[in-house]
Amino acid sequence: MEEKINSLKNELDEVFLSFIKDKNEVKSLFDLDLLESKYLGKKSFIAQTLKNINDFPQQIKPLVGKTVNETRKKIEDDIKLLRDDFTKVEYDKKLREEKFDLTLPGRTLTYGSKNIISQVIEEIQEIFIGLGYEIAEGPEVETDYYNFEALNHPPDHPARSLHDTFFISENILLRTHTSPVQIRYMEKHKLPVYIIAPGKVYRKDYDVTHTPMFTQIEGLAVDKNINFGNLKWTLETLAHSVFGKDRKVRFRPHYFPFTEPSAEVDVSCNICGGDGCRVCSGTGWLEILGAGMVDPNLYKFVNYDPETVNGFAFGMGVERIAMLKYGIDDLRLFFENDIRFLKQF
Ligand code: PHE
Repeated sequence: MEEKINSLKNELDEVFLSFIKDKNEVKSLFDLDLLESKYLGKKSFIAQTLKNINDFPQQIKPLVGKTVNETRKKIEDDIKLLRDDFTKVEYDKKLREEKFDLTLPGRTLTYGSKNIISQVIEEIQEIFIGLGYEIAEGPEVETDYYNFEALNHPPDHPARSLHDTFFISENILLRTHTSPVQIRYMEKHKLPVYIIAPGKVYRKDYDVTHTPMFTQIEGLAVDKNINFGNLKWTLETLAHSVFGKDRKVRFRPHYFPFTEPSAEVDVSCNICGGDGCRVCSGTGWLEILGAGMVDPNLYKFVNYDPETVNGFAFGMGVERIAMLKYGIDDLRLFFENDIRFLKQF
């Protein structure tokens, strides 16, 4: 029996020696798991010996158990120490690799911004929506009929030559103003008509104050009993909300084929306060739009009764309004989409 115990002890010493040798090769937690299963797992010498403890004579079973458990305990303790080490090493490594500095400033995202033309359109739309107007639209590629003829420009009318028109074919063109929307809308709607029609228009023109494409906003009010006073009030209200209450508004007689009487509308110059300066060419006034009472001739084209219906119309250049409002001196800035320019508004 003594012999049996001694030979078991020898075997356990060898197991432990071999464990120490293997232990030195362990380089990671993964290796350590393999080591643990080799020496303490189900198929290990230690586990098998304990499992088959009944093969030993009854008297020495306690001693066998004690002896095997001593070695098992040494192996377990070593593995535990190693595991702690490796866990810490791998954790530190992870920390080092994944560390990020919360005190570093973040990368700022640059936001785009709405083009100033869209902003001015929206602002003006809001004003007129507040007055009960609706938004209308029309095509940019128009027919001669809507752009000229139904707006009271007969075929040889000299006013046609005032528009430097881009023709696509004899009767198809890029609209030179938003006024064709007046006709298109009246054709399809009964009274009363109160509309605002923003959109792009095209003319052969290019310099500091003209681009071949620009933006207009058309206004049209047709009802019974509309008079020039209503037009004046409406445009004064517009000018005061866009430019400020202190600005004066004046109407100068003018000519448009589709309005009678017609006027050009100016606001007092905010740079010189009306005394005259370079911006207002010494006049003290800045032109902002064209307007007038709808020429009764137009009603014939849309089957309205010229005897009982009347109205006013106006049209303005959005870029021009924006330039005056924000003191911008080059029209081309609007179309370059330079974020540094756009972000200022
Ligand atoms: N359509 C005219 C233009 O482009 C402006 C205008 C509109 C004038 C409506 C009177 C009435 O110059």
